[in-house]
Amino acid sequence: MSAQKAEKKVHIKTWGCQMNVYDSERMADVMAPMGYAQTDQIGEADIVILNTCHIREKATEKVFSELGRMRVHKRAKEKAGGKMAFAVAGCVAQAEGAEILRRDKNVDMVIGSQAYHQLPEIIADWEKSNGTARIINTDFPAEPKFDHLPPAQPRGPSAYIAVQEGCDKFCSFCVVPYTRGSEYSRPAADIIAEIKTQISYGAREVNLLGQNVNAWHGTGTDGKTWNLGTLIFHLAELDGLDRIRYVTSHPNDMHDMLYRAHGEIPQLMPYLHLPIQNGSDKILAAMNRKHTQDDYRRIIDRMRDIRPDMAFSSDFIVGFPGETDADHRETMKIVDYVGYAAAYSFKYSRRPGTPAAKAGKQVLEDIKDIRLQELQKKLYADQTVFNTAKLGMAIPVLFDNRGKRYGQLQGKSPWLQTVNVIAPERLLGQIVDVKITEATQNSLTGEVIPIAPQISSGTHAA
Ligand code: SAH
Ligand code: SF4
Ligand code: F3S
Repeated sequence: MSAQKAEKKVHIKTWGCQMNVYDSERMADVMAPMGYAQTDQIGEADIVILNTCHIREKATEKVFSELGRMRVHKRAKEKAGGKMAFAVAGCVAQAEGAEILRRDKNVDMVIGSQAYHQLPEIIADWEKSNGTARIINTDFPAEPKFDHLPPAQPRGPSAYIAVQEGCDKFCSFCVVPYTRGSEYSRPAADIIAEIKTQISYGAREVNLLGQNVNAWHGTGTDGKTWNLGTLIFHLAELDGLDRIRYVTSHPNDMHDMLYRAHGEIPQLMPYLHLPIQNGSDKILAAMNRKHTQDDYRRIIDRMRDIRPDMAFSSDFIVGFPGETDADHRETMKIVDYVGYAAAYSFKYSRRPGTPAAKAGKQVLEDIKDIRLQELQKKLYADQTVFNTAKLGMAIPVLFDNRGKRYGQLQGKSPWLQTVNVIAPERLLGQIVDVKITEATQNSLTGEVIPIAPQISSGTHAA
């Protein structure tokens, strides 16, 4: 009998959104049965996968500088008689394709965002060529990749599950419809099965993921058409699932059932990431968002009526072509109106191939800087106010990580705040009441509230 083959190693580095984080986990799932274990040391890897983001120019350029930095590892491995493959996956791979092979001679494989299920064939071809082949696969397959992925490995107390992918909205600044393809919703039965598996591994929380997650729709397990709200009502029935979240939502896909879910389902966390991008109706129209600031305010008002403790977050773009100071004031107005718990804000970045890139009236970089600074100052102040308001409160925290300091655990409040607590390791994966003692812009600190001893009431009829 031949000696057991030495284990092969893959190093995966991920940029971009939660969908990319999920995809990286799924790539690892695909490669595990092929004998590839994950490593966080590039030097040890037989294959390095860069799972990339194309959303802004800077994100794309980071990939090429990383490839440059990684070259020494490839050379060292070759000197020692081995091989190290560089694979570029994700949205840059999808958008730039063969251009990546031209631009960097050290790249061996380019794997588009819909081709991960084909990793076994791609890698087998590369191995067969003794590391000389340069392979590109950026096809959008006829059948969704999800149908061809192996069962997921454990994801910890808080599991991310892609339920929807792609986008048909074509906001004029955005590459996602091109890098992820058109909207696709996974069948409810598949989603429920994946969540049940994660619960059996110890997950207490699920984060439903999608580029437009609230556009999710499909045939339910009862044969009827479900929307995201209906799906959440059914997930709430699953034993052992204590928390449900979803991200990212689009204002135009809010629906009655989702509002109802927030009113009626205690497991559905009181948090909504609802990007508005900009406050000016003129800019929103130019962005092809198809909603106004007023439409957005009505969503916020209705949610707050249903769930007064609802927290909101958003994404913002400043300096979109044609944006004036008056337009920017409108963005500041909506920020003031909502009082966000958290937010991401960016300077508009011109993306080749998108309609806005060709627009005249591009805003000067200096002006973008000033507007971004003003916006962020207000957003960070609001975030601090939101966090500080939790001081002294007792909050249920799901511990999903070890903390940075020894003896510390890290968890999440219902409003997605990070909470650091000195707590025993055995509480990892548990939901525990914590008294908040400190609050900063980015996190909370607290103490575990001891559980009062239970007084036995003896036997009683049920
Ligand atoms: N599907 C989500 C998010 C998509 S991308 C949505 O519709 O909101 C994440 C964020 O990146 C966007 O919300 C937007 O704020 C930002 N973004 C996208 N394209 C950009 C560009 N060209 N320049 C700057 N920011 C951009
Ligand atoms: Fe991009 Fe707009 Fe689609 Fe969001 S809704 S992914 S911003 S095109
Ligand atoms: Fe980036 Fe692609 Fe996500 S472009 S934001 S990784 S969908």
